[in-house]
Amino acid sequence: MRLAARMGSIGTETAFEATARARALEAQGRSIVYLQIGEPDFDTPANVREAAKRALDAGATHYAPFAGIPELRQAIAEDAAARKGFPVDPSQVFVTVGGKGVMVYAILGLIDPGDEVIVPDPGYPIYESLTRFIGATPVPIPIRQAHEFRLDVDELAGLITPRTRMIVINSPANPTGGVLTREDNERIADLAIRHDLIVLADEIYGRILYDGAEHVSIASLPGMAERTIVLDGFSKTFAMTGWRLGYAIVPPPLVGPFGTLIINTISCAPTFAQVGAVEALRGPQDAVDAMVVEFRARRDLVVDGLNAIPGIRCLRPQGAFYVFPDITATGLSGAELADRLLHEAGVCVLAGTAFGGLGTDHIRISYANSRENLTEALGRIRTVVEPLVAARV
Ligand SMILES: Cc1ncc(COP(=O)(O)O)c(C=O)c1O
Repeated sequence: MRLAARMGSIGTETAFEATARARALEAQGRSIVYLQIGEPDFDTPANVREAAKRALDAGATHYAPFAGIPELRQAIAEDAAARKGFPVDPSQVFVTVGGKGVMVYAILGLIDPGDEVIVPDPGYPIYESLTRFIGATPVPIPIRQAHEFRLDVDELAGLITPRTRMIVINSPANPTGGVLTREDNERIADLAIRHDLIVLADEIYGRILYDGAEHVSIASLPGMAERTIVLDGFSKTFAMTGWRLGYAIVPPPLVGPFGTLIINTISCAPTFAQVGAVEALRGPQDAVDAMVVEFRARRDLVVDGLNAIPGIRCLRPQGAFYVFPDITATGLSGAELADRLLHEAGVCVLAGTAFGGLGTDHIRISYANSRENLTEALGRIRTVVEPLVAARV
């Protein structure tokens, strides 16, 4: 069947394919430790589940308003004002199907063919994929381990051209766990204002932070709320990946266009799920705090365990639940090592190149798994990496 020409330029998220390959091996009787999945292994907190169940029984089975139910938009506006530090009117809030929906609307609504969008490399692959899909040009900004996985703002300045329309930032970041500092954000804001650029700020890991690291929403900086689309959601913070709920906070001129895009695509996000999300934001937050405490302990387990394996160099990230170790000393690319880890040791990780061309010498590990499984995986990784490195010296 003839596909639309634009399908030739769409990318994908290889995590889903890697999972399918690993499951096929498991079906053949192999033991697999899954470290490729970008989702909390915890269940959604019980109070949130109960609220959604009650909503179903109370009849929340109909369409919601396209922008989201008023209680949820209000709760998001208040939460954003408190945690992100800038005033938000509920009319600026759009509830979407997953945070991913916000990427679709931001890029469809603001980018023309021929425009340039600066995207992190390595970074979440969908920014680049959607940009290409609509005929625009993604321009990668390198994210390096040597720079603590924060973009270099001087380098960013050098990538801006008259065609640049948008900068995508993601802090804390997938796949590196890197966190932008306040100063980084201030300098990015300065560039955005000077060159009249839009910022798509993906803050989906904004509450998964360690060691006192500060989450700075770039929209809170002077002059930025009017040029920033904030992407956030419930998937990561509240372990709600399967609920498919995210949200955008947009500047007033984008309220109309965002509504039109939502009407043209999803009509609305699921109504009873939105009632659950109100409880997630307004109810007790101890489950979120407990998850972050557990993630921090796992981070240390994984970072220390990886750094104890000769040939692996792993930074201790301050956010999200990923590490992105440098595996250059193994003599393999990240893709080759990921393949060997899966087939020889039953450990499923992702190649760094799943997140952009600059990830060649890295693999991505998600530590959203039990300490027991992580310890098992570290032992298995050692059995593959140690002989590789020994053979090279
Ligand atoms: C950086 C980043 N942004 C957005 C998303 C999308 O999240 P969801 O659509 O589940 O809300 C993800 C999911 O992995 C992510 O890693």
